[in-house]
This record gives sequence, structure tokens and C-alpha cells, in this order.
Amino acid sequence: MHVGERRFMSDPPMPDPLISSDKSILKALRGEAQARPPIWVMRQAGRYLPEYRELRQRAPDFVSFCLTPEMAAEATLQPLRRFELSAAILFADILLIPMAMGCDLRFVKGEGPKLSPVRDRASVDALTTDTVSRTLAPVTETVARVKEQLEGDVALIGFAGAPWTVATYMIEGEGSRDQWAARVFAYEDPESFGRLMTMLSAATAEYLVMQAEAGAEVLKIFDSWASGLTEDLFQRAVIEPTADIVRQVRAAGVDVPIIGFPRGAGPAIPRYVRETGVTAVALDQSVPLNWARENVQPLAPVQGNLDNALLRAGGPAMDAAIDAIVEAFAGGGHVFNLGHGITPETPIENMARLVNRVRHG
Ligand code: CP3
Repeated sequence: MHVGERRFMSDPPMPDPLISSDKSILKALRGEAQARPPIWVMRQAGRYLPEYRELRQRAPDFVSFCLTPEMAAEATLQPLRRFELSAAILFADILLIPMAMGCDLRFVKGEGPKLSPVRDRASVDALTTDTVSRTLAPVTETVARVKEQLEGDVALIGFAGAPWTVATYMIEGEGSRDQWAARVFAYEDPESFGRLMTMLSAATAEYLVMQAEAGAEVLKIFDSWASGLTEDLFQRAVIEPTADIVRQVRAAGVDVPIIGFPRGAGPAIPRYVRETGVTAVALDQSVPLNWARENVQPLAPVQGNLDNALLRAGGPAMDAAIDAIVEAFAGGGHVFNLGHGITPETPIENMARLVNRVRHG
């Protein structure tokens, strides 16, 4: 039992920490309210940690880093040694899927990811899902290595990008502010776009099943660019492909909780939850707490949603925001997290203060 966790005489006997179904994040994802919420942080393995920067320097490039199980497992475990987190998240990247489907992928320092662009039917048809399991086999080895080293209440989260978010990088050939090329492509050539979504859904489902079979206890689908879409495009690009993945993962016999993260989807979140079949939904910082408590949490457990800028700022403003989030979601399933990833310039002390406050009040 962790310091500060409250127990009462009437509680059932102490759970065996080795029984994975009793880990606190899994309870939260089953909708159980807890005295203090479990916590993990998006991008918890990353450049704000000096030991990450040191490890990263030893890899020739970011893709080899992700595909070298020994290094990726080490990166996954680093934040767990410093902070009392409830979960480890596999160290990998959402853009490994397009790479495994045949796109060239490079990470250029200071500029971010570059991919060979997919802009027409011929480039969609040139992609393949046949090579996904072979190319991404090292990731399953990372999962297995991490799983072996996790102790106690800490669960392992596997993840993939959602087809729409991944496609925005593929169509644009790099990151973009407003996903312009992808939106135009989806309207101009809906058939090729639909084919791309179908291929990405199949590859992503296969990849998530591999991770679960290797030991991932939770899966998360990152749709980081789900904002700003029309109702029609939200349906075709976000809801249908995500529902497709959930169906395929379940059809493969995988029953671990799946967290969906439709970042920026706002009022479409309840529809996303109902129509995709995700177990739980991650909320970005723009989602109002009272609205989410009334309209989202009754449908599914929630994760979130501290502003990553508040984590960067720290101090009393951060403390007050943490307390408000914990209180708002205390009546149901809640996993504490940020609304988006921790940034490289965030002081480590602020992260320590966050984890401590969420766990112990
Ligand atoms: O700790 C974790 O959260 C697990 C690892 C993880 C990474 N990327 C490692 C990473 C996860 C879950 C991701 C997801 C990811 N990758 C998303 C979705 C989540 C989000 O933040 O919206 C997206 C959009 C990507 C694509 C991506 N990867 C970009 C745009 C970049 C470059 C931007 C940058 O910060 O340089 C990456 C690189 C990347 N992925 C880094 C890390 C730690 C930084 C690369 C480095 O260390 O040099």
C-alpha cells in the first residue's frame, strides 16, 4: 500500500499487487471511484528528463531508438524511478505505423517528423499492411522487457496513433498547424481517403493486438488532431476508423481497456464515446470539468486534464487546478493526466509536485 492511501476496516482484504486486475489504474478504467486517482503523464518519458536526453544521444536516430528494445525499455522505465506513477507508457511513436506500411520516416532535429507524402490513389495503393508485424516486432519485445521489470501497482500502457492523426502526417508529409492537406484530400478524393483509413485501421488494430499479447494492460489511441473537423469528416475520419479498430481488437480476443483521446473534439466527445466503443476517454484541457462530469463521466471513465502550461508554471495555480480536477471527477472512474504532453522545458520539481499532490492530496 502506498503512503496516504486510505483503508477502512470494512474494506476487502488487501489486494495482491501481483494480480494485475487490481492495479489502481485498471480499477479507475472499470469506473471505480477511488480515494485518490491513479496518475500518469503524457510524454512522461522525454526531454524534460536529463537521463532521457543522455540516452537519446546514444541512439543514431529517433526511429532506431524506438526500435531498439533495450533503449526503448530503458526510456519507458526512467520516469518510474523518479515519480510514484500508476502506469508506464511504452516508449515508441505513432509514426512507426506509416513507416511499417512503407513510408519513409525521418525525424529532423528542430523540425520534427518528415514522411514521404501520400497525396493520391497511387501512393495509397503503394502502402501495405503485410509488413507491419515484422517491422514492429521489436516494439513487442520492448513491451515484454518492460513488463518483466514493472512492480506493484504500476500498469503498462501500449498505444498507437488514430488513423486520422497518423494520416495528417502522411498526407502533409510533416506536421501541420491546421491539417489542411489532409482535410482537402478527404473531400477531394473520399474514396482514396476511405481506403487509407481502412488500411490504417487494420494495421493499427494488428499492432495494438501485438502489444496486448506481449503484456500491455491498457491501450490508448491518440487522435491528437481531432479538432476543427466538420460533423461529416469527424464521422469518416475519427469515429468510424476508431470504432473499426476497437471492433478488430475485440474480435482478436483482447479485452484490456482502451482509452480514446480525441483531442479538441469538445461537444462531440459523448458521441465519440458512444459510437467508437472505447472503454474510457482522455480529455484535453479545454474540456470544462462540470460539463465532463455531467456529460462524459456517466458514459465512460475519464482521463485528464491538467493544462500542460500549468505544469510548466507550477506553484499555487497548478495546485489549485489539480485539486479542482481531482474533486470534479472523484465520484467515478478517473485517471489523472495532463490535457496534452509534458513539454521539454518543464522543471522536474513541478512534475514531482504534481504526482505527489495527486496521490497524497
Ligand atoms: O512518454 C510517452 O508519452 C510515450 C512515448 C510517445 C512519444 N510520442 C515519444 C516521442 C508517445 C505516446 C508519442 C505519441 C505521439 N507522437 C503523438 C501523439 C501524442 C501527442 O503528443 O499529440 C504524436 C502527434 C507524435 C508525433 C511526433 N513524435 C512528433 C510531432 C514528434 C516531434 C516533435 C518533437 O517534440 O520533437 C515526435 C518525436 C517524439 N516522440 C519525441 C518523443 C519523446 C521527441 C523526440 C526526441 O527525443 O528527439
